[in-house]
Amino acid sequence: MKKLSEMLQETTQFILDQGVKEIEFGMILGSGLGELADEIEDAIKIPYDKIPFFPVSTVVGHAGQLVYGTLSGKKVLAMQGRFHFYEGHSMQTVTYPVRVMGALGAHSVIVTNACGGVNESFVPGDLMLISDHINFTGTNPLIGPNEDEIGPRFPDMSQAYTPAYRESAKEVANKLGLDLKEGVYMGYSGPTYETPAEIKMSRVMGADAVGMSTVPEVIVAAHGGLKVLGISCITNLAAGMQANLNHEEVVETTERVKQSFKALVKETLAVL
Ligand code: HPA
Repeated sequence: MKKLSEMLQETTQFILDQGVKEIEFGMILGSGLGELADEIEDAIKIPYDKIPFFPVSTVVGHAGQLVYGTLSGKKVLAMQGRFHFYEGHSMQTVTYPVRVMGALGAHSVIVTNACGGVNESFVPGDLMLISDHINFTGTNPLIGPNEDEIGPRFPDMSQAYTPAYRESAKEVANKLGLDLKEGVYMGYSGPTYETPAEIKMSRVMGADAVGMSTVPEVIVAAHGGLKVLGISCITNLAAGMQANLNHEEVVETTERVKQSFKALVKETLAVL
């Protein structure tokens, strides 16, 4: 198997050959927020299936392309659709695009997702700034040989979600009149939603929200020295807190709040 640095060399060369130049921010647009990529100016779009070492996303509602250009005056490379562990991809594959963003020179990533609310004061449609996470996926994308030129063997996760970025997002939410929540995101592998017992456990453990993404990508961002802003959309109350869970509700809620979600991300990006 090729070394990660060799793979990155091939992938970044391919992306640069498509006309991509300097990048400030990587963006991972989760369920419902994909259309933010349609607002990127002077866009260069690169379908995942053309990119060396990228897999193809299989989830309905995820377009599956990189979009490069200018958003809020910043040079961004956005993932319209992400890869999930539950699709059968390895953790290395799930997080490979974050490696690529770093290798292309991004200093930060903005990650968004849809998740279930565990905190009893949350309601569906709330937006939550991620202050920290609990890796409950049962694995870690950094397991395996470490390439020291990319990052340290034992990365510090004390400030994985950049405090200054969180402050900026809160100020922007205030200006927009948005009631932005803040809390801990607990990442499960999925694809099942959690059981009511698991949600009780999650709450006791300190989770405010649960989901099936984001944690691997943020671990790899921290490893590579990238700053992170994470924002979740609480699409439903977690298992046991409402009658039942289904993907339709997740999609409906993201549709309902996408205007404010997009505004928050764009306006925050402008001041980072
Ligand atoms: N659990 C896990 N992932 C989710 C949820 C949930 O309740 N809602 C949206 N994504």
